[in-house]
Amino acid sequence: MKRIGVLTSGGDAPGMNAAIRAVVRTAIYHKVEVFGIKRGYAGLLEGDIEPLNIYSVADIIHRGGTILRSSRSEYFKTDAGQNKAVQILNQWGIDSLIVIGGDGSFKGARALSKKGVNTICIPGTIDNDIGCTDFSIGFDTALNTALDAIGKIRDTTSSHNRVNIVEVMGRECGDIALYAGLAGGAESILVPEKEQDLDMIAEKLLRGKDRGKLHSIIILAEGVGNFQEFCNKIEEKTGVATRGTNLGYIQRGGSPTASDRILASRMGYMAVDLLLQNKTSRVICIRNNKYVDLDINEALEIKKDFDIEAYNIANVLSI
Ligand code: ADP
Ligand code: F6P
Repeated sequence: MKRIGVLTSGGDAPGMNAAIRAVVRTAIYHKVEVFGIKRGYAGLLEGDIEPLNIYSVADIIHRGGTILRSSRSEYFKTDAGQNKAVQILNQWGIDSLIVIGGDGSFKGARALSKKGVNTICIPGTIDNDIGCTDFSIGFDTALNTALDAIGKIRDTTSSHNRVNIVEVMGRECGDIALYAGLAGGAESILVPEKEQDLDMIAEKLLRGKDRGKLHSIIILAEGVGNFQEFCNKIEEKTGVATRGTNLGYIQRGGSPTASDRILASRMGYMAVDLLLQNKTSRVICIRNNKYVDLDINEALEIKKDFDIEAYNIANVLSI
């Protein structure tokens, strides 16, 4: 009989709770014991662990955040930290670990699997920066949060005939910016994957203004820089009053969208199912609309693709 531990690690993401619920319910359905490890690898190192039951995950499918909480742990990155983690898992008799997080968390899981722990990874991060999966849990919710904010910013930007630069999260990945920009009808999208030509952006802005356009929205991905410096540059180049907004942590919270809940429920179910088939060191992915599992080394090798077609379309549509 397996004993499964589940943890959430790295930046939290809406839908993590739906994934935890799916893991717990599937384990209980198969009469497998399941334990919640609090605060990611930091909590694991402190033995902050508790058994979960059917009631532990009631009424959480719609909640943002993570009931297990999350953290980043530098100590866990060391060999000593990982040995301690294995020792604690052994003390609890937990032989299998489900890690919900980003690729940093997956590297942690890989280290534990090399030391004999059965591990399954579920992609959970708003950034959508994991190469092996088309979507990670939380991305769709963050995208919709950004889109909602862009709509509000557009109202006031039009009223005052201004430019507004909206900074969104994503670390080194431009996906939130790209798709929020495309869906929000932004005039320009600045992402780390593409060189920026501020002169061209300024020209486009002025062309739009000459045609009677009342507002210009520029979406700026966090990986490109800070909105304040871009506000100054754009205002200098165009002479148009330019304001900026950093959407910040609101993108990490809120009730998950239907897409994120479905992704999380299916991946959580699949994680337990794989363990029951004695599979280990796997990452669960959605690729071309199919749920698949990949070896963790192979998964971590896959580079994130930037959707250049969507980027070019956004450019054409914002002529
Ligand atoms: P994410 O999982 O969202 O990418 P991080 O990169 O912050 O977030 O990683 C979360 C945690 O995973 C880190 O705080 C650390 O404990 C662990 N981790 C990250 N990278 C490694 C690594 N190379 N080896 C072992 N553990 C790692
Ligand atoms: O990975 C999710 C994310 O929100 C990134 O978009 C951002 O760069 C980072 O986490 C912020 O991390 P922290 O919560 O440590 O400030």
